[in-house]
Amino acid sequence: MQRLKNQVAIITGGARGIGKATVEIFAGEGAKVIIWDVLDAGAETAKDLSARGFLVEFQKVDISELSAVEKAANMIVENYKKIDILINNAGVIRDSSILKMTSEQWQTVLNVNLTGVFNCVKTVAPHMIENKYGRIVNTSSISGLRGNFGQANYAATKAGIVGMTKTLAREFGKHGITANAVAPGFIATEMTDSIPTEIRKAAIEGIPVKRAGQPEDIAYAYLFLASAEASFINGHCLSVNGGVL
Ligand SMILES: NC(=O)c1ccc[n+]([C@@H]2O[C@H](COP(=O)([O-])OP(=O)(O)OC[C@H]3O[C@@H](n4cnc5c(N)ncnc54)[C@H](O)[C@@H]3O)[C@@H](O)[C@H]2O)c1
Repeated sequence: MQRLKNQVAIITGGARGIGKATVEIFAGEGAKVIIWDVLDAGAETAKDLSARGFLVEFQKVDISELSAVEKAANMIVENYKKIDILINNAGVIRDSSILKMTSEQWQTVLNVNLTGVFNCVKTVAPHMIENKYGRIVNTSSISGLRGNFGQANYAATKAGIVGMTKTLAREFGKHGITANAVAPGFIATEMTDSIPTEIRKAAIEGIPVKRAGQPEDIAYAYLFLASAEASFINGHCLSVNGGVL
Protein backbone atom coordinates (compact mmCIF):
# COMPACT_ATOMS: atom_id res chain seq x y z
CA MET A 1 0.00 0.00 0.00
CA GLN A 2 1.23 3.47 -0.84
CA ARG A 3 1.10 5.63 2.30
CA LEU A 4 0.90 9.02 0.55
CA LYS A 5 -1.27 8.13 -2.42
CA ASN A 6 -2.60 11.28 -4.18
CA GLN A 7 -1.16 13.56 -1.51
CA VAL A 8 0.50 16.79 -2.64
CA ALA A 9 3.81 17.37 -0.85
CA ILE A 10 6.24 20.28 -0.94
CA ILE A 11 9.79 19.39 0.08
CA THR A 12 12.12 22.34 0.56
CA GLY A 13 15.81 21.72 -0.03
CA GLY A 14 14.90 18.67 -2.12
CA ALA A 15 17.74 19.09 -4.62
CA ARG A 16 20.28 17.11 -2.62
CA GLY A 17 21.08 15.42 0.67
CA ILE A 18 18.27 14.60 3.08
CA GLY A 19 15.75 16.48 0.94
CA LYS A 20 16.54 14.47 -2.18
CA ALA A 21 16.19 11.16 -0.33
CA THR A 22 12.84 12.43 0.97
CA VAL A 23 11.65 13.32 -2.53
CA GLU A 24 12.45 9.78 -3.73
CA ILE A 25 10.75 8.07 -0.79
CA PHE A 26 7.65 10.28 -0.85
CA ALA A 27 7.27 9.84 -4.62
CA GLY A 28 7.61 6.07 -4.15
CA GLU A 29 4.78 6.27 -1.59
CA GLY A 30 2.49 7.80 -4.21
CA ALA A 31 2.80 11.52 -3.40
CA LYS A 32 2.87 14.26 -6.01
CA VAL A 33 6.08 15.97 -4.95
CA ILE A 34 7.16 19.54 -5.58
CA ILE A 35 10.78 20.41 -4.84
CA TRP A 36 11.52 23.95 -3.72
CA ASP A 37 15.23 24.67 -3.92
CA VAL A 38 17.71 27.27 -5.12
CA LEU A 39 19.91 24.63 -6.79
CA ASP A 40 19.20 23.59 -10.39
CA ALA A 41 20.10 20.02 -9.38
CA GLY A 42 16.46 19.85 -8.25
CA ALA A 43 15.42 19.92 -11.91
CA GLU A 44 17.58 16.84 -12.63
CA THR A 45 16.05 14.94 -9.73
CA ALA A 46 12.54 15.82 -10.93
CA LYS A 47 13.42 14.77 -14.49
CA ASP A 48 14.93 11.43 -13.43
CA LEU A 49 12.02 10.52 -11.19
CA SER A 50 9.42 11.65 -13.73
CA ALA A 51 11.11 9.39 -16.31
CA ARG A 52 10.58 6.51 -13.85
CA GLY A 53 6.86 7.28 -13.73
CA PHE A 54 6.71 9.34 -10.54
CA LEU A 55 5.08 12.74 -10.30
CA VAL A 56 7.87 15.09 -9.24
CA GLU A 57 8.23 18.76 -10.15
CA PHE A 58 10.90 21.34 -9.47
CA GLN A 59 10.25 24.98 -8.72
CA LYS A 60 13.27 27.20 -8.24
CA VAL A 61 12.35 28.95 -5.01
CA ASP A 62 14.44 30.82 -2.48
CA ILE A 63 12.41 30.23 0.67
CA SER A 64 13.81 33.37 2.29
CA GLU A 65 11.83 35.41 -0.29
CA LEU A 66 8.16 35.53 0.68
CA SER A 67 6.97 36.67 -2.76
CA ALA A 68 8.75 33.73 -4.46
CA VAL A 69 7.17 31.29 -2.00
CA GLU A 70 3.70 32.78 -2.56
CA LYS A 71 4.04 32.63 -6.35
CA ALA A 72 5.15 28.97 -6.27
CA ALA A 73 2.41 27.93 -3.84
CA ASN A 74 -0.26 29.60 -5.99
CA MET A 75 0.92 27.60 -9.01
CA ILE A 76 0.69 24.36 -7.03
CA VAL A 77 -2.83 25.10 -5.84
CA GLU A 78 -3.85 26.05 -9.38
CA ASN A 79 -2.52 22.72 -10.69
CA TYR A 80 -3.39 20.32 -7.88
CA LYS A 81 -6.11 22.18 -5.92
CA LYS A 82 -4.53 21.42 -2.53
CA ILE A 83 -1.34 21.04 -0.51
CA ASP A 84 -1.33 18.20 2.04
CA ILE A 85 2.27 18.09 3.24
CA LEU A 86 4.99 20.67 3.82
CA ILE A 87 8.44 19.35 4.69
CA ASN A 88 10.55 22.32 5.77
CA ASN A 89 13.90 20.67 5.19
CA ALA A 90 16.03 23.39 3.53
CA GLY A 91 18.77 24.77 5.72
CA VAL A 92 22.21 26.36 5.61
CA ILE A 93 25.26 26.66 7.83
CA ARG A 94 27.78 29.51 8.11
CA ASP A 95 29.96 28.22 10.94
CA SER A 96 32.26 30.41 13.00
CA SER A 97 32.97 30.93 16.69
CA ILE A 98 30.74 33.74 17.88
CA LEU A 99 33.63 36.16 18.42
CA LYS A 100 34.60 35.81 14.75
CA MET A 101 31.06 35.50 13.36
CA THR A 102 30.06 38.32 11.02
CA SER A 103 26.62 39.89 11.01
CA GLU A 104 26.23 38.53 7.50
CA GLN A 105 26.92 34.94 8.65
CA TRP A 106 24.42 35.40 11.46
CA GLN A 107 21.73 36.93 9.25
CA THR A 108 22.07 34.50 6.32
CA VAL A 109 21.40 31.53 8.56
CA LEU A 110 18.43 33.23 10.23
CA ASN A 111 17.00 34.26 6.85
CA VAL A 112 16.91 30.70 5.51
CA ASN A 113 16.50 28.51 8.59
CA LEU A 114 13.91 30.58 10.45
CA THR A 115 12.40 33.23 8.16
CA GLY A 116 12.29 30.67 5.32
CA VAL A 117 10.21 28.32 7.44
CA PHE A 118 7.97 31.22 8.53
CA ASN A 119 7.44 32.16 4.87
CA CYS A 120 6.55 28.61 3.84
CA VAL A 121 4.19 27.97 6.75
CA LYS A 122 2.48 31.36 6.44
CA THR A 123 1.87 30.74 2.74
CA VAL A 124 0.91 27.06 2.75
CA ALA A 125 -1.11 26.76 5.98
CA PRO A 126 -4.17 28.70 4.70
CA HIS A 127 -4.54 26.11 1.92
CA MET A 128 -4.31 23.29 4.47
CA ILE A 129 -6.90 25.02 6.67
CA GLU A 130 -9.24 25.29 3.70
CA ASN A 131 -8.80 21.57 3.08
CA LYS A 132 -9.12 20.72 6.82
CA TYR A 133 -5.98 18.57 6.61
CA GLY A 134 -2.26 19.09 6.74
CA ARG A 135 1.08 17.77 7.86
CA ILE A 136 3.90 20.21 8.57
CA VAL A 137 7.30 18.75 9.40
CA ASN A 138 10.12 21.12 10.32
CA THR A 139 13.81 20.37 10.62
CA SER A 140 15.61 21.11 13.85
CA SER A 141 19.03 19.67 14.71
CA ILE A 142 20.97 18.11 17.54
CA SER A 143 22.90 21.42 17.50
CA GLY A 144 19.71 23.27 18.40
CA LEU A 145 19.02 20.97 21.33
CA ARG A 146 22.57 20.78 22.75
CA GLY A 147 24.46 23.75 21.24
CA ASN A 148 27.56 23.21 19.15
CA PHE A 149 30.91 24.98 19.02
CA GLY A 150 31.02 27.36 16.05
CA GLN A 151 27.28 27.20 15.40
CA ALA A 152 25.69 29.98 17.49
CA ASN A 153 23.72 31.15 14.45
CA TYR A 154 22.66 27.68 13.32
CA ALA A 155 21.90 26.38 16.84
CA ALA A 156 19.77 29.47 17.55
CA THR A 157 17.68 28.83 14.45
CA LYS A 158 17.30 25.13 15.12
CA ALA A 159 16.26 25.75 18.75
CA GLY A 160 13.87 28.38 17.39
CA ILE A 161 12.33 25.75 15.13
CA VAL A 162 11.32 23.71 18.18
CA GLY A 163 9.46 26.69 19.69
CA MET A 164 7.89 27.56 16.35
CA THR A 165 6.75 23.96 15.85
CA LYS A 166 5.08 23.76 19.27
CA THR A 167 3.29 27.02 18.53
CA LEU A 168 2.10 25.82 15.11
CA ALA A 169 0.80 22.67 16.80
CA ARG A 170 -1.31 24.79 19.15
CA GLU A 171 -2.55 27.15 16.45
CA PHE A 172 -3.37 24.62 13.73
CA GLY A 173 -4.44 21.50 15.65
CA LYS A 174 -8.13 22.33 15.43
CA HIS A 175 -7.89 22.46 11.63
CA GLY A 176 -6.73 18.86 11.21
CA ILE A 177 -3.14 20.01 10.75
CA THR A 178 -0.26 18.64 12.78
CA ALA A 179 3.16 20.27 13.11
CA ASN A 180 6.17 18.32 14.25
CA ALA A 181 9.94 18.56 13.97
CA VAL A 182 12.76 16.14 13.34
CA ALA A 183 16.14 16.81 14.96
CA PRO A 184 18.80 14.97 12.96
CA GLY A 185 22.16 14.08 14.46
CA PHE A 186 25.25 13.60 12.30
CA ILE A 187 24.06 12.74 8.77
CA ALA A 188 26.40 12.09 5.83
CA THR A 189 25.48 14.78 3.26
CA GLU A 190 27.22 17.62 1.43
CA MET A 191 26.48 19.77 4.51
CA THR A 192 28.77 17.64 6.67
CA ASP A 193 31.30 16.81 3.91
CA SER A 194 33.52 19.72 4.86
CA ILE A 195 34.05 18.50 8.44
CA PRO A 196 37.71 17.47 8.86
CA THR A 197 38.26 13.68 8.94
CA GLU A 198 39.48 13.58 12.56
CA ILE A 199 36.47 15.51 13.87
CA ARG A 200 34.15 13.36 11.76
CA LYS A 201 35.72 10.17 13.19
CA ALA A 202 35.36 11.45 16.75
CA ALA A 203 31.73 12.43 16.10
CA ILE A 204 30.90 8.95 14.80
CA GLU A 205 32.71 7.34 17.74
CA GLY A 206 30.33 9.24 20.06
CA ILE A 207 27.23 7.83 18.37
CA PRO A 208 25.95 4.68 20.17
CA VAL A 209 25.13 2.90 16.88
CA LYS A 210 28.68 3.69 15.66
CA ARG A 211 27.83 5.04 12.24
CA ALA A 212 26.90 8.30 10.59
CA GLY A 213 23.24 8.68 9.76
CA GLN A 214 22.20 8.39 6.11
CA PRO A 215 19.76 10.78 4.41
CA GLU A 216 17.14 7.99 4.33
CA ASP A 217 17.25 7.74 8.14
CA ILE A 218 15.78 11.23 8.31
CA ALA A 219 13.53 10.82 5.26
CA TYR A 220 11.72 7.89 6.91
CA ALA A 221 11.16 9.95 10.07
CA TYR A 222 9.68 12.71 7.90
CA LEU A 223 7.51 10.09 6.21
CA PHE A 224 6.13 8.80 9.50
CA LEU A 225 5.28 12.28 10.80
CA ALA A 226 3.78 13.24 7.41
CA SER A 227 1.54 10.18 7.26
CA ALA A 228 -2.17 10.15 8.09
CA GLU A 229 -1.40 7.57 10.82
CA ALA A 230 0.56 10.16 12.84
CA SER A 231 -2.55 12.29 13.44
CA PHE A 232 -2.26 12.27 17.27
CA ILE A 233 1.41 13.31 17.29
CA ASN A 234 1.52 17.09 17.38
CA GLY A 235 4.16 19.57 18.56
CA HIS A 236 6.77 16.84 18.98
CA CYS A 237 10.47 17.08 18.17
CA LEU A 238 11.80 13.65 17.20
CA SER A 239 15.54 13.13 17.64
CA VAL A 240 16.98 10.88 14.94
CA ASN A 241 20.62 10.62 15.88
CA GLY A 242 21.66 7.03 16.58
CA GLY A 243 21.11 7.36 20.32
CA VAL A 244 23.12 10.44 21.33
CA LEU A 245 21.44 11.62 24.55
N1 LIG B 1 23.51 16.77 7.59
C1 LIG B 1 23.41 16.82 8.91
O1 LIG B 1 24.24 16.26 9.66
C2 LIG B 1 22.26 17.56 9.56
C3 LIG B 1 22.16 17.53 10.96
C4 LIG B 1 21.13 18.19 11.57
C5 LIG B 1 20.20 18.89 10.83
N2 LIG B 1 20.31 18.92 9.47
C6 LIG B 1 19.32 19.70 8.73
O2 LIG B 1 18.72 18.88 7.75
C7 LIG B 1 18.31 19.67 6.65
C8 LIG B 1 18.89 19.10 5.36
O3 LIG B 1 20.30 19.09 5.49
P1 LIG B 1 21.30 18.39 4.46
O4 LIG B 1 22.36 17.78 5.27
O5 LIG B 1 20.57 17.57 3.48
O6 LIG B 1 21.91 19.71 3.78
P2 LIG B 1 22.35 20.01 2.27
O7 LIG B 1 23.18 21.25 2.36
O8 LIG B 1 22.92 18.81 1.62
O9 LIG B 1 20.94 20.34 1.58
C9 LIG B 1 20.22 21.49 1.91
C10 LIG B 1 19.38 21.90 0.72
O10 LIG B 1 18.69 23.12 1.07
C11 LIG B 1 18.75 23.98 -0.07
N3 LIG B 1 18.62 25.38 0.32
C12 LIG B 1 19.51 26.14 0.97
N4 LIG B 1 19.07 27.40 1.06
C13 LIG B 1 17.86 27.45 0.45
C14 LIG B 1 16.92 28.47 0.20
N5 LIG B 1 17.14 29.73 0.61
N6 LIG B 1 15.79 28.17 -0.46
C15 LIG B 1 15.56 26.89 -0.90
N7 LIG B 1 16.43 25.88 -0.70
C16 LIG B 1 17.56 26.16 -0.03
C17 LIG B 1 20.14 23.69 -0.64
O11 LIG B 1 20.26 24.19 -1.96
C18 LIG B 1 20.22 22.20 -0.53
O12 LIG B 1 19.68 21.54 -1.65
C19 LIG B 1 18.78 21.10 6.96
O13 LIG B 1 17.73 21.85 7.53
C20 LIG B 1 19.88 20.87 7.98
O14 LIG B 1 20.07 22.00 8.81
C21 LIG B 1 21.33 18.28 8.82
